[in-house]
Amino acid sequence: MKLKYFSHSSFQITTDDGKVLIIDPFLDGNPTSPVKSADVSPDFIILTHAHGDHLGDSFKIADRCDPLFICVNELADYVASNGYRAHNMHIGGAYNFDFGRLKFTIAHHGSLTPDNNYGGEPAGVIITADNKNIYHTGDTGLFYDMKLIGEMNEIDYMLLPIGDNFTMGITDAVKAVEFVNPATAIPMHYNTFPVIEADPNEFKQRVSNMGKDCRVMEFGEEIEL
Ligand code: NI
Ligand code: MN
Repeated sequence: MKLKYFSHSSFQITTDDGKVLIIDPFLDGNPTSPVKSADVSPDFIILTHAHGDHLGDSFKIADRCDPLFICVNELADYVASNGYRAHNMHIGGAYNFDFGRLKFTIAHHGSLTPDNNYGGEPAGVIITADNKNIYHTGDTGLFYDMKLIGEMNEIDYMLLPIGDNFTMGITDAVKAVEFVNPATAIPMHYNTFPVIEADPNEFKQRVSNMGKDCRVMEFGEEIEL
């Protein structure tokens, strides 16, 4: 399985049998992404919430390659009302797709679409594929139930925001890593705009100080998991 980081909260997972999943494809309007929407061809688009920096170029991509959207119910309805294929789920529920299993978790944030439609509750997502558990927290503040998520799931990779202002900053994100106890933490949602500037190496140092592993991915970097 491969994990590619476009920057911000946008990641691409490619499974061993070639299924391509993109989470929160914010590419063309994203000044830090070296990859643009015309360069990607996902089979699935997973949205954590409806904000413009997460919904991003989803519809432009879908016009070209017809992916299946996976989102919470209200956002899935919004996607479907725009003419795209969507699988409706909700927080706490999991489902087996042909790439593996996907479960939505809580996140503390908002979720209005760019054209002011209600996007449902914001979410995080746990993706299980090729015997790995990847937890993408979505945009969220720190919450104590992350401990429960860590107790009930052996998380291999935790992707979490460190940019502050709209989400957890570094101090809260370090506590989130302590709660979830992943094998590896990967920071996201930083340095896209001046208001979310943060030093991922400071985060890495502080996670390392707890005896935990952290990987700072370059924007555009792809790694084998
Ligand atoms: Ni957001
Ligand atoms: Mn965001």
